[in-house]
Amino acid sequence: MQKYSLLFFLLLLSPALSDLQCVENDKTALLKIKNSFGNPPELFSWTQTSDCCTEWAGVSCDLALGQVLSLNISNTKNISGPIPDSIGDLPILSYITLHNLPYLTGPLPPSLTNLSLLNRLTITYTALSGPLPSFITTFTQLSEFNLSHNKISGNLPVFPGDNTYFSIDLSHNYLSGVIPSSLFLGVLTNPILDISFNMLTGMIPSSLGKINFSWLNMAHNQLKGDASFLFGASKWAQLIDLSWNELDFNMSSLTFSPDYLQSLDLSHNEINGSINKQISKAKKLKALDLSYNQLCGRIPIGGPMKKFKASSYAHNLCLCGRPLPPCTR
Ligand SMILES: *[C@@H]1O[C@H](CO)[C@@H](O)[C@H](O)[C@H]1NC(C)=O
Ligand SMILES: *[C@@H]1O[C@H](CO)[C@@H](O)[C@H](O)[C@H]1NC(C)=O
Ligand SMILES: *[C@@H]1O[C@H](CO)[C@@H](O)[C@H](O)[C@H]1NC(C)=O
Ligand SMILES: *[C@@H]1O[C@H](CO)[C@@H](O)[C@H](O)[C@H]1NC(C)=O
Ligand SMILES: *[C@@H]1O[C@H](CO)[C@@H](O)[C@H](O)[C@H]1NC(C)=O
Ligand SMILES: *[C@@H]1O[C@H](CO)[C@@H](O)[C@H](O)[C@H]1NC(C)=O
Ligand SMILES: *[C@@H]1O[C@H](CO)[C@@H](O)[C@H](O)[C@H]1NC(C)=O
Repeated sequence: MQKYSLLFFLLLLSPALSDLQCVENDKTALLKIKNSFGNPPELFSWTQTSDCCTEWAGVSCDLALGQVLSLNISNTKNISGPIPDSIGDLPILSYITLHNLPYLTGPLPPSLTNLSLLNRLTITYTALSGPLPSFITTFTQLSEFNLSHNKISGNLPVFPGDNTYFSIDLSHNYLSGVIPSSLFLGVLTNPILDISFNMLTGMIPSSLGKINFSWLNMAHNQLKGDASFLFGASKWAQLIDLSWNELDFNMSSLTFSPDYLQSLDLSHNEINGSINKQISKAKKLKALDLSYNQLCGRIPIGGPMKKFKASSYAHNLCLCGRPLPPCTR
């Protein structure tokens, strides 16, 4: 916001800058997009006679170049059909937001591969469907990849490259199959991964244990087996949510980040063993749900543990102690 108001201020001050018009190529591409979307009323400001860099809703430019840097079309039922191919004709387009467009359909257009500077791709709450095309992993500048709440099917891709795809959100789709054993090929510093609410099956690959996620959500899938390798006191995850799967492992030796972990949900699995006392060192822990598992033994006390109610531990095998009834042995 601040950046834009500063730009606006500069525009007012500088007649030279305000003379700048968006380049013809970009204007033509946007007008084609408007046309493919059926000239919806939301894009009424997109006209042949106005400057697309300063007068068009949802468009912002690199003002020095007069080229479109970001495009945001959100919150309307009046846009239907697929993402137009002409989106690939905006050479420096770096930020795309297509949000809450329930009638936006079809797969991602191949012309997206033209956007070599793409940094943030957010297409959320639409009817985008089909499998993820293989070109989706070819962007070299992409850091935020958010395709949550769509109708995407097929398998998860393998994400390439060092320090790209830093944040991946594919939650609330129809993805199926197993998680690739090397989901990330490159080195990523504290990435975000949200693949919750899909139909993923099989074991979580142990290679993911080497990744130091800052946020990891795999809830509401059909994942089986071990997940203990995802944990550790030296990991940086703020949130780990593996709830509503079919995970079965022994929780007794798991340790948790004392300085970062804020939210842990392992509920609705088949996890056995006991809760390691070390959890009471996770001083930032604000949300804990271990209900509906096969856990047993004394609930640790101290630190953040006093915050949690009986519901955090409900429906286990034989957990005991505060806030549940006292242990009998
Ligand atoms: C996109 O535009 C909507 C309004 O239509 C606004 O609420 C939202 O914050 C914008 N998003 C981005 C990422 O600019
Ligand atoms: C869709 O367009 C119609 C006019 O064609 C308008 O009345 C309506 O407000 C628009 N819907 C939204 C969500 O803006
Ligand atoms: C993509 O790039 C190619 C080559 O640079 C160009 O011919 C084409 O028109 C561009 N646009 C689309 C939509 O593919
Ligand atoms: C992805 O977009 C949705 C909808 O705008 C948002 O709620 C969610 O936080 C985003 N995911 C990430 C990882 O930023
Ligand atoms: C996790 O990442 C943080 C910050 O990048 C680092 O300090 C910490 O040592 C890492 N832990 C592991 C287990 O790699
Ligand atoms: C606890 O779970 C592990 C992993 O599924 C299993 O091998 C072990 O037999 C279970 N222990 C008991 C007592 O059921
Ligand atoms: C879990 O592992 C611990 C050793 O780390 C062992 O003492 C305990 O019996 C195991 N629990 C189950 C249910 O298998």
